[in-house]
Amino acid sequence: MATIVSVINQKGGVAKTTTSLNVASSWAKQGKRILLIDLDPQSSATKAVFGDQEFEKTIYDVIVNQAQIDDVIQKSETFGFDMIPAEIMLSGVDMQLAAHFGREQILKRKLEPIAHRYDSILIDCSPSLGLMTINALMASKDIIIPICPEYFSLKGIELILNTLQNIRVGLGYKVGVRGVIITRFRDRRIVKDVIHQVREKYDLHVYSNYIPDNIAVEEAHHCHKPVHTHAPRSPAAQAYMSLASELWI
Ligand SMILES: Nc1ncnc2c1ncn2[C@@H]1O[C@H](COP(=O)(O)OP(=O)(O)OP(=O)(O)O)[C@@H](O)[C@H]1O
Ligand SMILES: [Mg+2]
Repeated sequence: MATIVSVINQKGGVAKTTTSLNVASSWAKQGKRILLIDLDPQSSATKAVFGDQEFEKTIYDVIVNQAQIDDVIQKSETFGFDMIPAEIMLSGVDMQLAAHFGREQILKRKLEPIAHRYDSILIDCSPSLGLMTINALMASKDIIIPICPEYFSLKGIELILNTLQNIRVGLGYKVGVRGVIITRFRDRRIVKDVIHQVREKYDLHVYSNYIPDNIAVEEAHHCHKPVHTHAPRSPAAQAYMSLASELWI
């Protein structure tokens, strides 16, 4: 049965999508059966994998229009995983489902019949705390939090921990925090301070494989490839492959 994990940070641009894509595809290369779900209306993960390809149905149709989940799963040979694409229509879901009973657990229910087919299901969340992010959390056993260490990183972590607390109190579900991933790492004093605080103040696990700031990541995005295929010897490719092993528990 798949473990469902959300990649989340309400702070934008901290490499949630980059981490989802490259961890998922590193796991796939390591022989795991992986499903990646794009749950962001910006659809960055969908575009990174499939370019401008249009899909008749996306996760939006599963959530709002009762589409069958099997009809929206796409295979990516290049990345080695199955993926459910997103689309911009997802941005209107909060309003559309405002009066829907049990709206926080739609995704959880839809994933139940397919979860046995995968070793892990990874969800790439949007930076906003909307209904889709709540659905991701309610479907997940755990979260992983990418941070790009700088002065405001701790604010992002505080917001997430608050959200988890609200879900525990309001919806009676406890989501676990697996740990924090350091992305776009550069060896600077502030970075070390932030990492120290994440450990000491919030008592969170920080993964030991930091992902370096590396141009190969951007290049791989443009070529619609995982970084380990695009530039296998690059520091980012090696870091993501090691991180994928470290994350697999
Ligand atoms: N290790 C890295 N080295 C260089 N560039 C990176 C690295 N990781 C991510 N980037 C770049 O940083 C930008 C933001 O990354 P990404 O889209 O993954 O962040 P995000 O958290 O998903 O953003 P959003 O909050 O908008 O969903 C992208 O242009 C990406 O290519
Ligand atoms: Mg993203």
